[in-house]
Amino acid sequence: MVKPIRKAVFPVAGLGTRFLPATKAMPKEMLTIVDRPVIQYVVDEAKAAGVEHFIFVTGRNKGVIEDHFDIQVELEHTLEQRGKLDTLGILRRDMPKAGHTSFTRQQQPMGLGHAVLCAQELVGDEPFALLLPDMIMKAPRGCLSQMMEVYQQRGGNIVALEEVPEKDTHKYGVVQTGEVRETDYEILGMIEKPAQGHAPSNLILSGRYILQPEIFKYLASQPPGAGNEIQLTDAMIQLKNDQDFSGVKFTGQTFDCGSKSGFLMANVAFGMERGDIAPNVADTIREIVQNYDDRNGIEA
Ligand code: UTP
Repeated sequence: MVKPIRKAVFPVAGLGTRFLPATKAMPKEMLTIVDRPVIQYVVDEAKAAGVEHFIFVTGRNKGVIEDHFDIQVELEHTLEQRGKLDTLGILRRDMPKAGHTSFTRQQQPMGLGHAVLCAQELVGDEPFALLLPDMIMKAPRGCLSQMMEVYQQRGGNIVALEEVPEKDTHKYGVVQTGEVRETDYEILGMIEKPAQGHAPSNLILSGRYILQPEIFKYLASQPPGAGNEIQLTDAMIQLKNDQDFSGVKFTGQTFDCGSKSGFLMANVAFGMERGDIAPNVADTIREIVQNYDDRNGIEA
């Protein structure tokens, strides 16, 4: 029997420089996809996978994330008075149970690995899920749920994988795979941002992890790596010497909402799922694309 995954960590302390000036005073995790903040999609994914406790590693300017997961008494009262019960229902449905969220601060953005280390006291000595809010997954069955299935069979550490064109591998953590099994890949090695042409595969770490608590030991002694940041991948490489890692290639669509194009595409994709706005959006997008093609001499 593997130990259950009860807790999930959400590192939300990055500076979000790619979205400046939007993120000067507002965290990028609160940017909206249609009408829900990015962070809500990731919390929903964790909830659907059975996670009970949500741990946020926040930083400067991130207080609004804490407010988002709290009750707004006046707002709820006003919605009730105005008969906006559907909206009120959505707010209540999204609310985590009392006492089931924790917030801790990463005082300086020293990298993803360091942000995860900041959650050590709150996670304690048990395996946990780690979800990067940058990556939004769209699928009938969430990415973490798909990973949980493999975890039930194999235990150990599980990472989500995604295929990218070979020319892009240098931007990501890349894995070296061994045996290809029915549900997952054996992971033989990992490397963070390999030099161009030196990646061991085109399968990248795509922002979802199930990790054993021994990862903290390696994070605590990790010197800064790529980009002068404490890298999670470097600590996982060390943990790999002691424990098994399996990789799950997620079935669904992934949007890198840390990039402007990924964020825009996520808005279109999720917007098109909404019956109330989809027809309008589709018509306008067709027109915009047609104008773009005409201007650039692109034939359909
Ligand atoms: P990114 O690499 O996207 O960094 O972090 P960033 O600073 O947020 O964004 P840019 O590159 O400046 O635009 C991936 C995830 O790790 C978190 C981020 O909040 C994001 O969810 N992170 C990163 C931290 O919590 N702390 C850090 O020191 C770095």
